[in-house]
Amino acid sequence: MYRGPKGGSRVRLAVACAATAVVLGPLVWLWQASLQPDAYSVTDMGYADSGGGPVGSSTAQGGHGQHAMAGRSVASLTADPRRPADVTVTLTARKRRFQLASGRGVDGYTLNGGSPGPVIRATVGQLVQVRLVNESVSGGVTLHWHGVDVPGAEDGVAGVTQDAVGVGEDFTYRFVADQVGTFWYHSHQVSHEQVQGGLFGALVVTPKEQPADLVDVLALVHLYQGVATVNGREGDVRVDVPPGKRARVRVINTDNGQISVWVAGAPFRLVAVDGTDLHGPTPVQDTAVLVTAGGRADLEVTVPEAGSPIRVHLGGSAAVVLGSRRYDVPAVPRPKATLDLLSYGTKAPLGFDPQTPDRRFRYDIGRRPGFLDGRPGLWWTVNGHLFPDIPMFVVAEGDVVRMRIANHSGQAHPMHLHGHHAVVLSRDEVRATGSPWWVDSLNVGRGESYDLAFVADNPGIWMDHCHNLPHATQGLVAHLMYEGTTTPFAVGGTAGNEPE
Ligand code: C2O
Ligand code: CU
Repeated sequence: MYRGPKGGSRVRLAVACAATAVVLGPLVWLWQASLQPDAYSVTDMGYADSGGGPVGSSTAQGGHGQHAMAGRSVASLTADPRRPADVTVTLTARKRRFQLASGRGVDGYTLNGGSPGPVIRATVGQLVQVRLVNESVSGGVTLHWHGVDVPGAEDGVAGVTQDAVGVGEDFTYRFVADQVGTFWYHSHQVSHEQVQGGLFGALVVTPKEQPADLVDVLALVHLYQGVATVNGREGDVRVDVPPGKRARVRVINTDNGQISVWVAGAPFRLVAVDGTDLHGPTPVQDTAVLVTAGGRADLEVTVPEAGSPIRVHLGGSAAVVLGSRRYDVPAVPRPKATLDLLSYGTKAPLGFDPQTPDRRFRYDIGRRPGFLDGRPGLWWTVNGHLFPDIPMFVVAEGDVVRMRIANHSGQAHPMHLHGHHAVVLSRDEVRATGSPWWVDSLNVGRGESYDLAFVADNPGIWMDHCHNLPHATQGLVAHLMYEGTTTPFAVGGTAGNEPE
């Protein structure tokens, strides 16, 4: 039977529609599956990964994502409420235009009128109490104590350990500064914007007795709208150090990318990384130190008896100049050699045996196209999955945990685990032979893999994410939770919690 042109085009239309449905159907499904609810608990996301360890009685059987049933709330994990504070600070957050010391204007955020916020100093063992007041940051703010293994409720992650502090509200953090070292604090609400814009500051915890001949120098490095600064100042920061005296330079990298630090005019020793002293650090020269995003490095230098000054280069354009103010010291290019912490310093006991772990996790970082909360793009993956369908690493208190971070994503990632310090066991199968290398922020370069170990000794729900903060917004976020821990807080919701 003859079919007119009309019938033929109807068939063609039907075939075209069917083909479109075949192509679009799965895409629509993927798009829809990626949409995140308006409010959700991080404990309900993704899938539980027990790392081969026992699944405790407090962990739900079956129910997708219900990692924890009855248990203790993260909000109950505080410092002893009866203990009085030794160090008391109030920080008032504002969104406003402010000026760097040079007079350059910056559109951003301030704490107590400036950025960076005040340096908080404590002696080890003191209880630090910080009241955060939000005067005018409409999106809300929090404070996270980067590198300090604070109690779970004090971690400052909006939507996980607290609600973002809205305008006119306040929140008080309390923790014992029980580790000597160099740390920093920053907002963990819309952190990719707020940290870059200025909501951060330094926290220094010193020993009970400071050596009298040591000059303590802070070097908080930050880019304000592309302008390199040290302690909020452009250009060289000069510190008077008398001839023959030692200085401890505490470098804090608050930016999204790593920086190289090198010293002209004297040898130096790298005495601490991420708030932990290295064991047996030897003097080095013509060698750069990489400080990863969020990481810290403490360098010790002695000003020569002749009084000639020392220049500590902090990335390409910022520097601290130590010594007499009368002289200048020329900039030198970055040395070719980079200090390898895998073999720097000498061995010392770890305090636990990483060879018999209770759990082993892998944190494989990849990249692929897909949808992230409905947005098409090229996103980071964790163990092959796109956020939020990612692992929740579940541990029990007291576990020895091994983690292997492998990076197949084509870009470097500064990985940061909250609430814990982990020790590096090997990189690309090469074993660590130097000082114990404890980190809270670790640069995992392209194609690299690291084996780490830590003791699960700080109950809570802890972020484990990339500190190149835009990457965190692009899905490079997972969590570590202690079984049975719950959170009353939700990402999104009426508080508008948005930790990344
Ligand atoms: Cu310095 Cu999760 O952050
Ligand atoms: Cu990253």
